[in-house]
Amino acid sequence: MDKKITIIGAGNVGATAAHWALVRQLGDVVLLDVMEGIPQGKALDLWQSGPLDGYSGTLQGSNDYADTKDSDVVIITAGLARKPGMSRDDLLAKNVAIVKSCAEEAVKYSPECVLIVVTNPIDAMVHTAFKVSGLPKERVLGMAGVLDSARYRTFLADALGVAAKDVNALVMGIHGDNMLPLARLANVGGVPITELLPADTIEEIIKRTQMGGIEIVNHLKTGSAFYTPGLAAIEMAEAVLTDSRRVMPCAAYLEGEFDISGYFLGVPVVLGKNGVEKILQFALTEQEKTALQDSVAAVSKQMAATGL
Ligand code: LAC
Repeated sequence: MDKKITIIGAGNVGATAAHWALVRQLGDVVLLDVMEGIPQGKALDLWQSGPLDGYSGTLQGSNDYADTKDSDVVIITAGLARKPGMSRDDLLAKNVAIVKSCAEEAVKYSPECVLIVVTNPIDAMVHTAFKVSGLPKERVLGMAGVLDSARYRTFLADALGVAAKDVNALVMGIHGDNMLPLARLANVGGVPITELLPADTIEEIIKRTQMGGIEIVNHLKTGSAFYTPGLAAIEMAEAVLTDSRRVMPCAAYLEGEFDISGYFLGVPVVLGKNGVEKILQFALTEQEKTALQDSVAAVSKQMAATGL
């Protein structure tokens, strides 16, 4: 296959992403982890599904970054996941060291890659990867908005009794309690949801979306969500690898967009072969501006804790 995709971290999110990369025939896949045997075993298992799902590329499990050479897209999923009672910020100290080393090693071998960071707390981890990788801002992205918007769309579709695919909705800002699921722009088949659902139902759905991650952590107890996070990362990777110019909410580096500078934050992005091809800007209401500033304040606190 002519494209190569590396997934760093062979835990639940990484393995799920690798699975979807195969199913969607995105290219040759390398699944890398520091744990000996885990990426090899999972890659072998996934590779053997080829005769059943028609996958024809290569899939390699590895502990050696040399195997990731010349990847078009690198997805970083490595790091600790939350347990009940933990916020995403509680992971920061440990994960910052992990993400630093992953980003540094990855760009040594794939200096032209587009880097997608999934490790939590995402908005600070993507900034960390940006700083240590030396990649241009367009080539570094955080996965959060696609996941949060998928949750929002699922809950809205359920309340509306419609196909989730037909619900369009955008979640901006931080991947945390201050995220901003926009109600006024959400629609189903072009019809505003604000015309179809009572305000208190929408409010409940927004709250549930903001707490979507912890709802799953509280069920699982031993970790956090991985099916939709893994697929969300692949959705972004596919847009880059196929240069599709699909529009997705991603954590992108802002330099004046939405009056924010110097932070990664979830905004609507046109994705293509160069990563961020464009950030789609639009006028926010005063309330939305305030909510987005709350996100900035929360990310700024995370960034201070990274020591970068
Ligand atoms: C979640 C984790 C991945 O939102 O942050 O499920």
